[in-house]
Amino acid sequence: MGKLIVIEGTDGSGKSTQFRLLTEAVAKDGREFQKLVFPQYKEESSALIRMYLGGQFGSSPSDVNAYAASAFYAVDRYASYKKVWGDWYEQGGLVLSDRYTTSNAVHQASKEPEEKRGEFLRWLYEFEYDRLGLPKPDLTIYLDVPTKYTEQLMRSREAATGTTADIHEKDLDYLAVCRETGRFAAKYYGWTVIDCVRDGAMRTIEDIHGEIMARVRACLEE
Ligand SMILES: Nc1ncnc2c1ncn2[C@@H]1O[C@H](COP(=O)(O)OP(=O)(O)O)[C@@H](O)[C@H]1O
Ligand SMILES: [Mg+2]
Repeated sequence: MGKLIVIEGTDGSGKSTQFRLLTEAVAKDGREFQKLVFPQYKEESSALIRMYLGGQFGSSPSDVNAYAASAFYAVDRYASYKKVWGDWYEQGGLVLSDRYTTSNAVHQASKEPEEKRGEFLRWLYEFEYDRLGLPKPDLTIYLDVPTKYTEQLMRSREAATGTTADIHEKDLDYLAVCRETGRFAAKYYGWTVIDCVRDGAMRTIEDIHGEIMARVRACLEE
């Protein structure tokens, strides 16, 4: 089997920014890899996700329960595993991913009452890894950013790219709960947490990248 490395975090935490730098650095090191970005919004397999995020099942994230929403995202991953990267991974290839099963832990566990979040997290890994047969990541890098910083980053990204927020991104209370459940999940599963804010300020993109690369290189040498 190959190696799977995942960048995870709440919305606007800098995942895609760090993912781009990560893939550039690994390419520079001369390593071959496959690059994945979830959800695969352009693929048919994401139809239910698009319906959900577009508000067709209700305008609030809580209109679709944690288990149902997780299933939408899981089948999108399953389809890409079968069609795109499964063979490569099974032959020992390296796979780098911007979000993964881990995103369900961050965005869906928050819908369960606190005392039931552990049960959800147990179910989630069993469902995607044991039952669907998707690979477990060798390294999950979790970008931890307090909500007041992600909010600023998301709004500036919307302004820069001319995009609008989906039902997750619009709901700041939801985002705040996701940050808490994200930290809970990181502890529960043993993810590698990167603290992106230091002394009351967001760290620079390069600084965070350096810490990520140290973790990734250590994982690749194992
Ligand atoms: N460390 C950072 N400091 C300042 N701005 C950042 C930092 N990391 C990312 N950004 C900016 O914040 C916005 C959200 O980043 P992005 O990588 O798209 O987040 P995500 O993929 O987690 O939603 C982008 O406009 C990006 O340029
Ligand atoms: Mg992103």
